[in-house]
Amino acid sequence: MKRYFLPMYSIVFLLAAAAATLCIKTILTAGGGGGADTIFLYPNTPHEETKKTHVFNSTVLQFSAVDLAENSLRQNVEQLVGGNMQGLDKRSFLYAGKHRIDIRARSARGVPVNLRSPEFYRLWLEFRRYLQTWWRNHKFQDDVMSEMANVVRNFKRGFNESDLGGNGKFRTCAVVGNSGILLKSDLGGEIDGNEFVIRLNNARTSGFERNVGSKTSLSFVNSNILHLCARRENCFCHPYGENVPIMMYMCQMIHFLDYVVCNTSHKAPLVITDPRFDVLCARIVKYYSVLRFLRETGKPLELWADSHDGSNFHYSSGMQAVMLAIGMCEKVSIFGFGKLDGAKHHYHTNQKGELHLHDYLAEYDLYQDLVERPEAIPFVSDKFKFPTVVIHR
Ligand SMILES: *[C@@H]1O[C@H](CO)[C@@H](O)[C@H](O)[C@H]1NC(C)=O
Ligand SMILES: *[C@@H]1O[C@H](CO)[C@@H](O)[C@H](O)[C@H]1NC(C)=O
Ligand SMILES: *[C@@H]1O[C@H](CO)[C@@H](O)[C@H](O)[C@H]1NC(C)=O
Repeated sequence: MKRYFLPMYSIVFLLAAAAATLCIKTILTAGGGGGADTIFLYPNTPHEETKKTHVFNSTVLQFSAVDLAENSLRQNVEQLVGGNMQGLDKRSFLYAGKHRIDIRARSARGVPVNLRSPEFYRLWLEFRRYLQTWWRNHKFQDDVMSEMANVVRNFKRGFNESDLGGNGKFRTCAVVGNSGILLKSDLGGEIDGNEFVIRLNNARTSGFERNVGSKTSLSFVNSNILHLCARRENCFCHPYGENVPIMMYMCQMIHFLDYVVCNTSHKAPLVITDPRFDVLCARIVKYYSVLRFLRETGKPLELWADSHDGSNFHYSSGMQAVMLAIGMCEKVSIFGFGKLDGAKHHYHTNQKGELHLHDYLAEYDLYQDLVERPEAIPFVSDKFKFPTVVIHR
Protein backbone atom coordinates (compact mmCIF):
# COMPACT_ATOMS: atom_id res chain seq x y z
CA MET A 1 0.00 0.00 0.00
CA LYS A 2 1.50 3.33 -0.96
CA ARG A 3 1.64 6.02 1.62
CA TYR A 4 -0.17 8.73 -0.25
CA PHE A 5 -3.28 6.62 -0.46
CA LEU A 6 -3.70 6.50 3.28
CA PRO A 7 -5.75 9.67 3.84
CA MET A 8 -8.12 8.67 1.09
CA TYR A 9 -8.61 5.24 2.58
CA SER A 10 -9.52 6.74 5.91
CA ILE A 11 -12.12 9.03 4.38
CA VAL A 12 -13.75 6.20 2.53
CA PHE A 13 -13.53 4.07 5.62
CA LEU A 14 -15.41 6.66 7.65
CA LEU A 15 -18.11 7.03 5.03
CA ALA A 16 -18.41 3.32 4.65
CA ALA A 17 -18.49 2.74 8.38
CA ALA A 18 -21.61 4.86 8.62
CA ALA A 19 -23.32 2.73 6.02
CA ALA A 20 -22.02 -0.67 6.92
CA THR A 21 -24.95 -1.70 9.02
CA LEU A 22 -27.01 -1.69 5.86
CA CYS A 23 -26.73 -3.97 2.92
CA ILE A 24 -26.54 -1.53 0.07
CA LYS A 25 -26.24 -2.98 -3.34
CA THR A 26 -25.33 -0.05 -5.52
CA ILE A 27 -24.86 3.05 -3.45
CA LEU A 28 -23.25 4.03 -0.23
CA THR A 29 -25.48 6.30 1.79
CA ALA A 30 -25.49 6.88 5.49
CA GLY A 31 -28.64 5.49 7.02
CA GLY A 32 -30.13 3.45 9.77
CA GLY A 33 -32.07 0.39 10.66
CA GLY A 34 -34.67 -0.74 12.97
CA GLY A 35 -37.93 0.97 13.78
CA ALA A 36 -41.71 1.01 13.86
CA ASP A 37 -44.52 2.29 15.95
CA THR A 38 -46.20 -1.02 16.49
CA ILE A 39 -46.24 -2.43 19.98
CA PHE A 40 -45.81 -6.15 20.38
CA LEU A 41 -46.93 -8.04 23.43
CA TYR A 42 -47.75 -11.62 22.72
CA PRO A 43 -48.36 -14.53 25.04
CA ASN A 44 -46.13 -17.53 24.71
CA THR A 45 -48.57 -19.97 23.16
CA PRO A 46 -47.23 -22.95 21.23
CA HIS A 47 -48.79 -23.48 17.84
CA GLU A 48 -51.53 -26.04 17.73
CA GLU A 49 -50.66 -29.37 16.26
CA THR A 50 -53.60 -29.38 13.88
CA LYS A 51 -52.45 -27.86 10.61
CA LYS A 52 -54.15 -24.60 9.80
CA THR A 53 -54.30 -23.47 6.24
CA HIS A 54 -54.20 -20.06 4.70
CA VAL A 55 -55.51 -18.92 1.33
CA PHE A 56 -52.93 -16.86 -0.55
CA ASN A 57 -53.69 -14.42 -3.35
CA SER A 58 -51.83 -15.88 -6.32
CA THR A 59 -51.39 -12.51 -8.04
CA VAL A 60 -49.58 -11.15 -5.00
CA LEU A 61 -47.53 -14.33 -4.67
CA GLN A 62 -46.41 -14.18 -8.29
CA PHE A 63 -45.56 -10.52 -8.04
CA SER A 64 -43.51 -11.13 -4.88
CA ALA A 65 -41.61 -13.97 -6.48
CA VAL A 66 -40.03 -11.64 -9.03
CA ASP A 67 -36.68 -10.21 -7.99
CA LEU A 68 -36.24 -6.87 -9.73
CA ALA A 69 -32.50 -7.00 -9.07
CA GLU A 70 -32.04 -10.37 -10.76
CA ASN A 71 -30.80 -9.02 -14.10
CA SER A 72 -28.30 -6.61 -12.67
CA LEU A 73 -27.09 -9.33 -10.33
CA ARG A 74 -26.58 -11.68 -13.26
CA GLN A 75 -24.63 -9.04 -15.16
CA ASN A 76 -22.56 -8.36 -12.11
CA VAL A 77 -21.71 -12.03 -11.69
CA GLU A 78 -20.86 -12.42 -15.37
CA GLN A 79 -18.61 -9.39 -15.30
CA LEU A 80 -16.75 -10.64 -12.27
CA VAL A 81 -16.40 -14.17 -13.52
CA GLY A 82 -15.06 -12.71 -16.77
CA GLY A 83 -12.48 -10.77 -14.76
CA ASN A 84 -13.79 -7.39 -15.83
CA MET A 85 -14.40 -4.98 -12.99
CA GLN A 86 -15.61 -2.05 -15.03
CA GLY A 87 -18.47 -0.24 -13.43
CA LEU A 88 -18.66 -2.58 -10.50
CA ASP A 89 -17.90 -0.21 -7.74
CA LYS A 90 -18.68 3.44 -7.61
CA ARG A 91 -15.60 3.98 -5.52
CA SER A 92 -12.43 4.52 -7.46
CA PHE A 93 -10.66 1.59 -5.93
CA LEU A 94 -11.21 -1.38 -3.79
CA TYR A 95 -9.05 -3.80 -2.08
CA ALA A 96 -9.31 -7.00 -0.18
CA GLY A 97 -6.89 -7.44 2.65
CA LYS A 98 -3.52 -6.15 1.53
CA HIS A 99 -4.37 -6.58 -2.14
CA ARG A 100 -5.19 -3.32 -3.72
CA ILE A 101 -6.80 -3.09 -7.12
CA ASP A 102 -7.01 0.24 -8.86
CA ILE A 103 -10.18 0.11 -10.89
CA ARG A 104 -10.08 3.70 -12.04
CA ALA A 105 -6.85 3.24 -13.92
CA ARG A 106 -8.03 0.24 -15.83
CA SER A 107 -11.75 0.34 -16.19
CA ALA A 108 -11.61 3.35 -18.49
CA ARG A 109 -10.06 1.09 -21.08
CA GLY A 110 -12.32 -1.77 -20.06
CA VAL A 111 -9.53 -4.25 -19.71
CA PRO A 112 -9.45 -6.87 -16.99
CA VAL A 113 -7.79 -5.81 -13.77
CA ASN A 114 -4.14 -6.36 -13.39
CA LEU A 115 -3.51 -9.35 -11.20
CA ARG A 116 -0.46 -8.16 -9.44
CA SER A 117 0.91 -11.23 -7.76
CA PRO A 118 0.66 -15.00 -7.96
CA GLU A 119 -0.87 -14.94 -4.50
CA PHE A 120 -3.58 -12.60 -5.62
CA TYR A 121 -4.16 -14.68 -8.72
CA ARG A 122 -4.77 -17.72 -6.54
CA LEU A 123 -7.28 -15.77 -4.45
CA TRP A 124 -8.93 -14.54 -7.60
CA LEU A 125 -9.44 -18.07 -8.89
CA GLU A 126 -10.89 -19.12 -5.55
CA PHE A 127 -13.12 -16.06 -5.57
CA ARG A 128 -14.48 -17.01 -8.99
CA ARG A 129 -15.11 -20.55 -7.88
CA TYR A 130 -17.14 -19.45 -4.80
CA LEU A 131 -19.02 -16.91 -6.83
CA GLN A 132 -19.95 -19.39 -9.53
CA THR A 133 -21.14 -21.95 -7.00
CA TRP A 134 -23.14 -19.33 -5.16
CA TRP A 135 -24.75 -18.12 -8.37
CA ARG A 136 -25.65 -21.65 -9.47
CA ASN A 137 -27.50 -22.12 -6.18
CA HIS A 138 -29.15 -18.72 -6.20
CA LYS A 139 -32.62 -20.15 -6.80
CA PHE A 140 -35.87 -20.56 -5.06
CA GLN A 141 -36.40 -23.78 -3.19
CA ASP A 142 -39.37 -23.98 -0.89
CA ASP A 143 -37.94 -26.55 1.50
CA VAL A 144 -34.75 -24.69 2.28
CA MET A 145 -36.07 -23.88 5.78
CA SER A 146 -35.99 -27.58 6.66
CA GLU A 147 -32.34 -27.68 5.63
CA MET A 148 -31.46 -24.88 8.05
CA ALA A 149 -31.16 -27.53 10.74
CA ASN A 150 -27.96 -28.62 8.94
CA VAL A 151 -26.54 -25.15 9.37
CA VAL A 152 -26.43 -25.85 13.11
CA ARG A 153 -23.46 -28.11 12.42
CA ASN A 154 -21.28 -25.05 11.77
CA PHE A 155 -21.97 -23.65 15.20
CA LYS A 156 -21.94 -26.72 17.42
CA ARG A 157 -18.42 -26.27 18.74
CA GLY A 158 -18.64 -25.77 22.49
CA PHE A 159 -22.09 -27.36 22.70
CA ASN A 160 -22.66 -30.77 24.18
CA GLU A 161 -24.58 -32.76 21.57
CA SER A 162 -26.77 -34.31 24.24
CA ASP A 163 -27.89 -30.84 25.26
CA LEU A 164 -29.31 -30.06 21.85
CA GLY A 165 -32.98 -30.60 21.15
CA GLY A 166 -34.77 -32.62 18.46
CA ASN A 167 -33.05 -32.81 15.04
CA GLY A 168 -29.95 -31.43 16.74
CA LYS A 169 -31.51 -27.96 16.87
CA PHE A 170 -30.76 -25.48 19.59
CA ARG A 171 -33.44 -25.48 22.27
CA THR A 172 -33.66 -21.77 22.96
CA CYS A 173 -32.35 -18.95 20.81
CA ALA A 174 -32.33 -15.20 21.15
CA VAL A 175 -32.03 -12.84 18.22
CA VAL A 176 -30.93 -9.46 19.53
CA GLY A 177 -31.79 -6.47 17.35
CA ASN A 178 -30.09 -3.13 17.84
CA SER A 179 -33.05 -0.92 18.58
CA GLY A 180 -32.77 1.71 21.30
CA ILE A 181 -35.82 0.17 22.98
CA LEU A 182 -33.33 -2.16 24.67
CA LEU A 183 -31.90 0.65 26.75
CA LYS A 184 -33.32 0.52 30.30
CA SER A 185 -34.97 -2.78 29.42
CA ASP A 186 -32.99 -4.79 31.97
CA LEU A 187 -33.26 -7.75 29.60
CA GLY A 188 -29.56 -8.67 29.60
CA GLY A 189 -30.01 -11.62 31.93
CA GLU A 190 -32.95 -12.97 29.99
CA ILE A 191 -31.07 -12.70 26.70
CA ASP A 192 -27.99 -14.47 28.07
CA GLY A 193 -30.23 -17.20 29.49
CA ASN A 194 -30.77 -18.53 25.96
CA GLU A 195 -28.73 -21.45 24.72
CA PHE A 196 -27.79 -19.65 21.51
CA VAL A 197 -27.59 -15.86 21.14
CA ILE A 198 -27.40 -14.17 17.74
CA ARG A 199 -26.29 -10.54 17.48
CA LEU A 200 -26.45 -8.24 14.50
CA ASN A 201 -23.96 -6.21 12.51
CA ASN A 202 -21.32 -6.14 15.22
CA ALA A 203 -23.26 -3.93 17.63
CA ARG A 204 -21.13 -3.80 20.72
CA THR A 205 -22.29 -5.12 24.06
CA SER A 206 -19.63 -3.67 26.34
CA GLY A 207 -21.12 -1.00 28.55
CA PHE A 208 -24.64 -2.21 27.74
CA GLU A 209 -24.56 -5.66 29.34
CA ARG A 210 -27.39 -5.02 31.76
CA ASN A 211 -29.80 -4.33 28.94
CA VAL A 212 -28.45 -6.34 26.04
CA GLY A 213 -26.52 -9.14 27.73
CA SER A 214 -22.99 -10.23 26.96
CA LYS A 215 -23.24 -13.71 25.52
CA THR A 216 -22.81 -14.12 21.76
CA SER A 217 -22.97 -17.46 19.99
CA LEU A 218 -23.17 -16.10 16.47
CA SER A 219 -22.43 -12.74 14.93
CA PHE A 220 -24.74 -12.19 11.96
CA VAL A 221 -23.65 -9.46 9.57
CA ASN A 222 -24.05 -8.29 6.02
CA SER A 223 -21.03 -8.50 3.78
CA ASN A 224 -20.41 -4.74 3.90
CA ILE A 225 -19.20 -5.30 7.45
CA LEU A 226 -16.72 -7.93 6.39
CA HIS A 227 -15.59 -5.69 3.55
CA LEU A 228 -14.59 -3.11 6.15
CA CYS A 229 -13.00 -5.70 8.39
CA ALA A 230 -10.94 -6.96 5.46
CA ARG A 231 -8.99 -3.73 5.52
CA ARG A 232 -7.77 -4.36 9.01
CA GLU A 233 -4.89 -6.44 10.22
CA ASN A 234 -5.95 -10.11 9.99
CA CYS A 235 -9.45 -9.04 8.96
CA PHE A 236 -10.19 -8.09 12.54
CA CYS A 237 -13.96 -8.34 12.89
CA HIS A 238 -14.55 -9.62 16.38
CA PRO A 239 -16.25 -7.34 18.87
CA TYR A 240 -17.46 -10.53 20.56
CA GLY A 241 -14.13 -12.33 20.56
CA GLU A 242 -12.38 -14.21 17.80
CA ASN A 243 -13.92 -17.54 18.70
CA VAL A 244 -17.44 -16.42 17.86
CA PRO A 245 -18.55 -17.66 14.44
CA ILE A 246 -19.66 -15.12 11.88
CA MET A 247 -22.42 -15.64 9.38
CA MET A 248 -23.12 -13.15 6.65
CA TYR A 249 -25.21 -12.62 3.59
CA MET A 250 -23.72 -11.26 0.42
CA CYS A 251 -24.75 -7.73 -0.53
CA GLN A 252 -22.26 -7.28 -3.30
CA MET A 253 -20.67 -10.04 -5.27
CA ILE A 254 -17.23 -8.44 -5.04
CA HIS A 255 -17.37 -9.17 -1.30
CA PHE A 256 -16.57 -12.78 -2.08
CA LEU A 257 -13.06 -11.48 -2.47
CA ASP A 258 -13.10 -10.28 1.11
CA TYR A 259 -14.42 -13.65 2.07
CA VAL A 260 -11.59 -15.63 0.49
CA VAL A 261 -9.05 -13.28 2.03
CA CYS A 262 -10.58 -13.38 5.51
CA ASN A 263 -11.62 -17.01 5.70
CA THR A 264 -8.04 -18.21 6.10
CA SER A 265 -7.29 -15.92 9.03
CA HIS A 266 -10.52 -16.56 10.86
CA LYS A 267 -10.39 -18.94 13.81
CA ALA A 268 -14.10 -19.56 14.15
CA PRO A 269 -16.31 -20.51 11.20
CA LEU A 270 -17.00 -17.73 8.72
CA VAL A 271 -20.13 -18.83 6.93
CA ILE A 272 -22.05 -17.37 4.01
CA THR A 273 -25.82 -17.75 3.97
CA ASP A 274 -27.19 -20.29 1.54
CA PRO A 275 -28.21 -18.35 -1.57
CA ARG A 276 -31.45 -20.33 -1.70
CA PHE A 277 -32.18 -19.01 1.79
CA ASP A 278 -31.45 -15.46 0.56
CA VAL A 279 -33.94 -15.92 -2.26
CA LEU A 280 -36.56 -17.20 0.16
CA CYS A 281 -36.08 -14.26 2.54
CA ALA A 282 -36.25 -11.77 -0.33
CA ARG A 283 -39.56 -13.21 -1.51
CA ILE A 284 -41.10 -13.29 1.94
CA VAL A 285 -40.22 -9.69 2.75
CA LYS A 286 -41.37 -8.44 -0.62
CA TYR A 287 -44.67 -10.26 -0.07
CA TYR A 288 -45.23 -8.55 3.28
CA SER A 289 -44.20 -5.22 1.85
CA VAL A 290 -46.65 -5.62 -1.03
CA LEU A 291 -49.52 -6.60 1.29
CA ARG A 292 -48.84 -3.56 3.41
CA PHE A 293 -48.61 -1.33 0.36
CA LEU A 294 -51.96 -2.57 -0.99
CA ARG A 295 -53.61 -2.21 2.39
CA GLU A 296 -52.25 1.24 3.21
CA THR A 297 -52.34 2.98 -0.15
CA GLY A 298 -55.09 1.21 -2.09
CA LYS A 299 -52.89 1.71 -5.16
CA PRO A 300 -52.36 -1.00 -7.78
CA LEU A 301 -49.68 -3.61 -7.25
CA GLU A 302 -47.54 -2.32 -10.10
CA LEU A 303 -46.79 0.89 -8.21
CA TRP A 304 -45.13 -0.92 -5.34
CA ALA A 305 -41.61 -0.67 -6.80
CA ASP A 306 -41.83 3.12 -7.17
CA SER A 307 -42.36 3.60 -3.48
CA HIS A 308 -39.86 0.96 -2.38
CA ASP A 309 -36.73 1.69 -4.36
CA GLY A 310 -37.53 -1.35 -6.53
CA SER A 311 -34.27 -3.05 -7.39
CA ASN A 312 -32.49 -1.84 -4.25
CA PHE A 313 -35.20 -3.13 -1.96
CA HIS A 314 -33.75 -5.62 0.46
CA TYR A 315 -34.56 -7.46 3.63
CA SER A 316 -32.72 -6.33 6.76
CA SER A 317 -30.03 -8.34 8.53
CA GLY A 318 -32.40 -8.66 11.45
CA MET A 319 -35.05 -10.32 9.32
CA GLN A 320 -32.70 -12.91 7.94
CA ALA A 321 -31.22 -13.61 11.37
CA VAL A 322 -34.73 -14.21 12.71
CA MET A 323 -35.47 -16.60 9.84
CA LEU A 324 -32.17 -18.37 10.48
CA ALA A 325 -33.14 -18.86 14.11
CA ILE A 326 -36.56 -20.10 12.97
CA GLY A 327 -34.74 -22.84 11.06
CA MET A 328 -32.13 -23.69 13.70
CA CYS A 329 -34.03 -23.47 16.97
CA GLU A 330 -36.95 -24.98 18.85
CA LYS A 331 -37.85 -21.71 20.49
CA VAL A 332 -36.95 -18.23 19.26
CA SER A 333 -37.05 -15.10 21.39
CA ILE A 334 -36.76 -11.76 19.64
CA PHE A 335 -35.29 -8.77 21.48
CA GLY A 336 -34.53 -5.22 20.44
CA PHE A 337 -36.71 -5.02 17.33
CA GLY A 338 -39.02 -2.05 17.00
CA LYS A 339 -39.24 1.56 17.94
CA LEU A 340 -40.91 3.63 20.59
CA ASP A 341 -41.35 7.37 20.81
CA GLY A 342 -38.31 8.78 22.50
CA ALA A 343 -36.25 5.62 22.14
CA LYS A 344 -32.95 5.82 20.32
CA HIS A 345 -32.74 4.36 16.85
CA HIS A 346 -29.83 2.10 17.80
CA TYR A 347 -28.86 1.38 21.36
CA HIS A 348 -25.16 1.72 20.53
CA THR A 349 -25.02 4.65 18.09
CA ASN A 350 -26.48 8.12 17.68
CA GLN A 351 -27.71 7.38 14.22
CA LYS A 352 -31.08 8.91 13.38
CA GLY A 353 -31.98 8.30 9.76
CA GLU A 354 -33.80 5.46 8.15
CA LEU A 355 -33.60 4.26 4.59
CA HIS A 356 -36.38 3.10 2.32
CA LEU A 357 -34.20 0.21 1.29
CA HIS A 358 -35.84 -1.86 4.00
CA ASP A 359 -39.51 -2.05 4.88
CA TYR A 360 -39.33 -2.50 8.62
CA LEU A 361 -43.07 -2.29 9.10
CA ALA A 362 -43.52 -5.15 6.67
CA GLU A 363 -40.89 -7.13 8.54
CA TYR A 364 -42.78 -6.55 11.78
CA ASP A 365 -45.90 -7.93 10.11
CA LEU A 366 -43.88 -11.04 9.35
CA TYR A 367 -42.71 -11.38 12.97
CA GLN A 368 -46.28 -11.01 14.13
CA ASP A 369 -47.28 -13.89 11.84
CA LEU A 370 -44.37 -15.96 13.15
CA VAL A 371 -45.91 -15.61 16.59
CA GLU A 372 -49.58 -15.89 15.76
CA ARG A 373 -50.16 -17.63 12.45
CA PRO A 374 -47.10 -19.05 10.71
CA GLU A 375 -49.38 -20.74 8.18
CA ALA A 376 -49.88 -17.26 6.66
CA ILE A 377 -46.18 -16.99 5.77
CA PRO A 378 -45.78 -17.64 2.06
CA PHE A 379 -43.11 -19.58 0.12
CA VAL A 380 -42.25 -21.94 2.99
CA SER A 381 -42.94 -25.61 2.43
CA ASP A 382 -45.75 -27.23 4.46
CA LYS A 383 -43.20 -29.78 5.59
CA PHE A 384 -41.46 -27.21 7.72
CA LYS A 385 -42.59 -27.00 11.32
CA PHE A 386 -42.31 -23.49 12.74
CA PRO A 387 -40.95 -23.13 16.27
CA THR A 388 -42.50 -21.13 19.08
CA VAL A 389 -41.68 -17.43 18.75
CA VAL A 390 -41.82 -14.78 21.45
CA ILE A 391 -41.25 -11.05 20.97
CA HIS A 392 -39.91 -9.10 23.95
CA ARG A 393 -40.49 -5.42 24.34
C1 LIG B 1 -55.45 -10.46 -5.47
O1 LIG B 1 -54.77 -9.23 -5.33
C2 LIG B 1 -54.91 -8.39 -6.46
C3 LIG B 1 -54.00 -7.19 -6.25
O2 LIG B 1 -54.40 -6.45 -5.14
C4 LIG B 1 -56.37 -8.01 -6.63
O3 LIG B 1 -56.51 -7.18 -7.75
C5 LIG B 1 -57.18 -9.29 -6.80
O4 LIG B 1 -58.54 -8.96 -6.84
C6 LIG B 1 -56.91 -10.25 -5.68
N1 LIG B 1 -57.55 -11.52 -5.99
C7 LIG B 1 -58.33 -12.14 -5.14
C8 LIG B 1 -58.91 -13.44 -5.60
O5 LIG B 1 -58.62 -11.68 -4.06
C1 LIG C 1 -22.33 -34.09 27.69
O1 LIG C 1 -23.50 -34.43 28.44
C2 LIG C 1 -23.48 -35.77 28.92
C3 LIG C 1 -24.84 -36.06 29.56
O2 LIG C 1 -25.26 -34.97 30.36
C4 LIG C 1 -22.32 -35.93 29.90
O3 LIG C 1 -22.27 -37.26 30.37
C5 LIG C 1 -21.00 -35.60 29.19
O4 LIG C 1 -19.93 -35.65 30.07
C6 LIG C 1 -21.09 -34.21 28.54
N1 LIG C 1 -19.92 -34.00 27.73
C7 LIG C 1 -19.22 -32.89 27.78
C8 LIG C 1 -18.04 -32.80 26.85
O5 LIG C 1 -19.48 -31.95 28.53
C1 LIG D 1 -13.06 -21.51 5.04
O1 LIG D 1 -12.08 -22.03 5.89
C2 LIG D 1 -12.45 -23.21 6.57
C3 LIG D 1 -11.38 -23.53 7.58
O2 LIG D 1 -10.11 -23.40 7.02
C4 LIG D 1 -12.66 -24.30 5.57
O3 LIG D 1 -13.02 -25.51 6.20
C5 LIG D 1 -13.77 -23.88 4.64
O4 LIG D 1 -13.96 -24.84 3.63
C6 LIG D 1 -13.46 -22.53 4.00
N1 LIG D 1 -14.63 -22.06 3.31
C7 LIG D 1 -14.87 -22.38 2.08
C8 LIG D 1 -16.16 -21.90 1.52
O5 LIG D 1 -14.09 -23.03 1.42
